[in-house]
Amino acid sequence: MNQEKVIVIDFGGQYNQLVARRVRECNVYCEIYSYRTKPEQIKAMNPKGIILTGGPNSCYEQGAPTYGKELFELGIPVLGLCYGAQLMMFLLGGKVEAAPVREYGKTEVFVDTSSKLFAGVSEQTVCWMSHFDYIAKEAPGFEITAHTADCPVAAAERAADKLYAVQFHPEVLHTQEGTKILHNFVRGICGCSGLWRMDSFVEQSIQAIRRKVGNGKVLCALSGGVDSSVAAVMLSKAIGKQLTCVFVDHGLLRKNEGDEVEEVFGPNGPYELNFIRVNAQDRFYVRLAGVTEPEQKRKIIGEEFIRVFEEEAKKIGTVDFLVQGTIYPDVVESGLGGESAVIKSHHNVGGLPDYVDFKEIVEPLRDLFKDEVRKAGLELGIPKYLVFRQPFPGPGLGIRIIGDVTAEKVRIVQEADAIYREEIADAGLAECIDQYFAALTNMRSVGVMGDERTYDYAVALRAVSTVDFMTAEASEIPFAFLQKVMGRIINEVSGVNRVFYDLTSKPPGTVEFE
Ligand code: XMP
Repeated sequence: MNQEKVIVIDFGGQYNQLVARRVRECNVYCEIYSYRTKPEQIKAMNPKGIILTGGPNSCYEQGAPTYGKELFELGIPVLGLCYGAQLMMFLLGGKVEAAPVREYGKTEVFVDTSSKLFAGVSEQTVCWMSHFDYIAKEAPGFEITAHTADCPVAAAERAADKLYAVQFHPEVLHTQEGTKILHNFVRGICGCSGLWRMDSFVEQSIQAIRRKVGNGKVLCALSGGVDSSVAAVMLSKAIGKQLTCVFVDHGLLRKNEGDEVEEVFGPNGPYELNFIRVNAQDRFYVRLAGVTEPEQKRKIIGEEFIRVFEEEAKKIGTVDFLVQGTIYPDVVESGLGGESAVIKSHHNVGGLPDYVDFKEIVEPLRDLFKDEVRKAGLELGIPKYLVFRQPFPGPGLGIRIIGDVTAEKVRIVQEADAIYREEIADAGLAECIDQYFAALTNMRSVGVMGDERTYDYAVALRAVSTVDFMTAEASEIPFAFLQKVMGRIINEVSGVNRVFYDLTSKPPGTVEFE
């Protein structure tokens, strides 16, 4: 992208992706790079501004992440946040020490509103603080522009050089006027025009895909999930029938999901592309028969998926490009971008490149955060229910059934899950839960229905609140609601006589139920 951008230099703090998101909300394109990225590289990118993030270290300790002082001499505006602020002061001759009083949480900050950074901000404003060190003395030439009861330098600046340091976190929503502060920096101080828009992104991406692909043939593994759907539609708009999407129905999808995907992407749908649906349910059930160990189930599903996909790909012959639904957090997490290296433990079933004969990969969503992918999806006219689908794991219901997987168990889980999802939507609860589904416990117990003794399965309902899916808590769902869902599942789904609500957080549990 050759447009104006702001660069976030990542020092390993927990809110770093959030900083980039907030900048993009100001309609300014933003990318994250590790603090190990050399100043020449940063300079070559010609950014309009640089933001230094927070981080868990003490900047004065040996081995702590640091940066060359020349960063502040490039003539590019720099904003340091928390650790980034301390580092800026430290490198430029100020003093950073362990704070006599640590600040954590919402804190009243008194700001000098004559600073360009705080233009239009209230003189007393609530900000999110999280620090054990503090700036004991600002660097020479800096002026203090904010303080709190316990922190004499909550913000400082050398406005003539466009250097700004703030101890708090404007990127966190608890900082009530944080967006305004970031807006002041990127639009006011850096002078970004704010022309980054999803519609222009989509249009630019379509043009870029056309340039890259030319007359080539493109293959996409479509799962029906948000990312692969948005990628597929973007490609179909760019290159039409040069695109072939292969959708493998492994028999572990949610109720009606296979047909829904076909309705949208198949020959009767609105898009022009080659769509191949492979109904491979039986193959998967045969391979999974009698297998109870979760990792083994995952392996089998992954392998069989590859085999099916490969067979279809071979029928098409050589393809020039393979589509991958990589999104920006994957790029950052894989270490190509920022510092917060999270080792991905999950393999998406779609988009494994090494078994298809192709020349290159196309990743149309590589620059986007998840909610931006959704915005792009809406922009492309994809139905809302597809765009706002919750995460669904590649191995599907195979990891929501404890014990061996059979067609009968899949039916039970699909029906119970459909009821649960329908009720959550009706009750308007979907917005306060990040992921929810029904699972099969594999436990059978005695019950009584009518006058008959039953010996049936117990279904577990799961609902979690989470920010990043690395940790999660069971959502607080009204008891009356759970009772209603329980009643419907037991009445409508044969083979079930008990319903549990899973209270387990992650850790010690996981989100999925395997
Ligand atoms: P866990 O169960 O590990 O799940 O706490 C965290 C998040 O990851 C999703 N998940 C997967 N996604 N392939 C995926 O694409 C997988 O194999 C997989 N396993 C778990 C899960 O749905 C949750 O959102």
